[in-house]
Amino acid sequence: MRCGHFDDAAREYVITNPRTPVKWINYVGTLAFGGFVDHTGGALLCRGDPATNRITRYLALQPASDFKATTLYMRVRSREGFIVSSPFFVPTLQTLDAFECHIGLGYTRIVSERGGLRTIATFFVPRQEARLLIDIVVSNIGAAPVSVDAIPVIEYSHFDALKQLTNADWVPQTMQSKARQDQDGHVVLSQYAFMMRDTQINYMSSNLPASSFETDRRGFLGDNEYGTWAAPARLRDRELANSEALRGDNIGALMHHLGSIKPREDRRLIVQIGQARSVDDALPSIRAFRDPARVDEAFGELASFWDSYLDCQRVSTPDSDANRMLNIHNPRQCYVTLSWSRYLSLYQLGYGARGIGFRDSSQDVMGVLASAPSQARALILRLLGVQTRAGYAMHQFNPATMEATMGDARERDDRPQYYSDDALWMILAVCEYVKETGDLDFLSVTVPFYDKAKSGEPLESASILEHLKRALSFTHATTGRHGLPLLGFADWNDTVNLAAGAESVFTACLYGKALSEIADLLSHRGDAPGASAYRTWYEEMKARVNEHAWDGSWYVRYFDADGSPLGSTRNTQGQIYINSQTWPVISGFATPDRAQAALASLHARLNTRHGIKKSAPGFNGFDPAKGGVTTYPPGAKENCGIFLHTNPWAMIAQTVVGNGDRAWQYYRQINPARSNDEIERYECEPWVYPQNILGDEHPQFGLARNSWLSGTASWVYQAALKYVLGVRPDYDGLRVDPCIPADWEGFEVRRVFRGSHYLIRVKNPSHVCRGVKTVTVDSKELPGCVVPAFTDNAHHEVDVILG
Ligand code: GLC
Repeated sequence: MRCGHFDDAAREYVITNPRTPVKWINYVGTLAFGGFVDHTGGALLCRGDPATNRITRYLALQPASDFKATTLYMRVRSREGFIVSSPFFVPTLQTLDAFECHIGLGYTRIVSERGGLRTIATFFVPRQEARLLIDIVVSNIGAAPVSVDAIPVIEYSHFDALKQLTNADWVPQTMQSKARQDQDGHVVLSQYAFMMRDTQINYMSSNLPASSFETDRRGFLGDNEYGTWAAPARLRDRELANSEALRGDNIGALMHHLGSIKPREDRRLIVQIGQARSVDDALPSIRAFRDPARVDEAFGELASFWDSYLDCQRVSTPDSDANRMLNIHNPRQCYVTLSWSRYLSLYQLGYGARGIGFRDSSQDVMGVLASAPSQARALILRLLGVQTRAGYAMHQFNPATMEATMGDARERDDRPQYYSDDALWMILAVCEYVKETGDLDFLSVTVPFYDKAKSGEPLESASILEHLKRALSFTHATTGRHGLPLLGFADWNDTVNLAAGAESVFTACLYGKALSEIADLLSHRGDAPGASAYRTWYEEMKARVNEHAWDGSWYVRYFDADGSPLGSTRNTQGQIYINSQTWPVISGFATPDRAQAALASLHARLNTRHGIKKSAPGFNGFDPAKGGVTTYPPGAKENCGIFLHTNPWAMIAQTVVGNGDRAWQYYRQINPARSNDEIERYECEPWVYPQNILGDEHPQFGLARNSWLSGTASWVYQAALKYVLGVRPDYDGLRVDPCIPADWEGFEVRRVFRGSHYLIRVKNPSHVCRGVKTVTVDSKELPGCVVPAFTDNAHHEVDVILG
């Protein structure tokens, strides 16, 4: 079964069946203003923070068939009265003659036909604007004239998203709406919570005169709300009631009589939903966006942004499913995670329990460095602002207030209130940023630590380099009985929460990777003593991991406070974990023999046809001593599920040991594009990576969930570009060191690097996985495989022969 297809030329996925297995979404705008639009036209919008400034009341938990915050009704006059339907399918659910939902780069376009009318509705947020546009073209494709009304509708949320759900007294008493009708018939509906009246309003308007409006849900649905969204009672009348809500559930609905549309004629209705200080403030721009030419221009600007974003890295490999993901959908998903971290999706509902995650976003920035380095830089700076003086990082923060918390670590006061891995990811992010941009001065930028005096002033500020050093010193100083880093409340695996005193082998390896990155950075800056001090720490930790954590055929994952291992043959459940096989290899801690053995065990014990499981066998029953992981049935999420974020680390580890065939097997088996033909099993959007797929211990093996906001996006992109195709920024230039499937004849990468354009052509005449024989740049042979950073804005041709 399929629900749609890829259109690579248009850089879209086209849904052709509105009855997708679960709701599917696309992102519009950014965290500054935006949200997502589902494939039947429901939109969740917010500005700056989905918890504290939410605009539309999109209730993700409602069934797919229910109205969710926005829709468009069309009304056709017949002899019997008005025939009402929605070209978005939801909420009227009438069968449409044709339906397509185009998932584009920053826009969603629903094209549908019914009764001789075609409606094309394009949702997008213009770059740098705080407004959603719904650009609607209604055409008569039948043989007779049709008299049509178009009624766009929005339902507002209280700006405090959680209060909307928890307080049905204060919220409805504060919600109010007003209408402003101009001489020429244009209407601007404004909506606000009372206390925001003079500072912040939501508005809805359109480019065509509206003959009437409604702002009260009760009035629109009618019959004391026994009228339904599928058949609003008020739409039986020619006009809406022009009521300005003084309280209650506020909506915006505008009646547009499009008149009699002749065959082959069309009408264009442009709806705007936005937020501003006041209607007066917003009017000039509302008027500007009533002009179809301005809307076309804004759509063109959006397309240009994506052209230049995607042009920074383009690949051509023998694998067409990979090309489609690596050139379009994967970098696009990276950009989405940059804005939304793990905060707002159909699965992370953005009510404030999360915010922007320190570890999550530190990893996300590494997925956009080639294409959006300045946005990555800005996010790095925000993240560093929630690192504490002690060196560990606050777990998450609210983007509007920059108030940070320790997340779930607060749940147990007998446990450490920090995550042992969080701050270490930032070291990787900053080093990659400097390698991409060459901007060594960035390390000297001063950033305050999170600790504040009562007055709110930061207690200390330091250079970025000092921030990174604090993170390392913290890990160096907080070790347990084997000399391995203490786990804290958890490490990358949020859900294994062991008693205080437990140690993490994963954090040890991440620390190792961070130490080797810092040592390289310091050497590059000419600080040889600094580099050597960190290399000593590296060797110390490497020795401890190899002394204590080798279990015979793989590495152990944790040690409990009493010194007993988890992730060992001594356990009956949770015998082997993926992260403690991949990271000893990535960090360089594993000796060559152990690296081979650990990866062979991983393959034998954890690989499935739908991806690599996080661990095995699964825990089967709640065990408070292990924590959250045992709340899941075997095969789900962190409990032996296919937690996709970990899979690219196995790809990278395979490239470290030179096995390009296996690395690509791991890449292909989780490529979501390949699930398009098995959508009844997979269920989620086939153009983005989900966070998890149920593992083979679960009866629904292969079912995906938690699409879009996952570290998988950044890491698969990095694994493919930097490690398999092997085009990897380094301090002095672009390293080209591929590790590909042996049967590939070659591939090409086009890359913008520090302003210059590189066309890299790799040929593989001897069919090896790895081994650069010659590198020629602009017809001159290079010693080694680091192509210089030319910074001359010119084009350079790089020819690489493997052998
Ligand atoms: C979720 C969290 C991430 C964590 C992962 C594994 O994706 O956002 O921070 O590392 O789960 O527990």
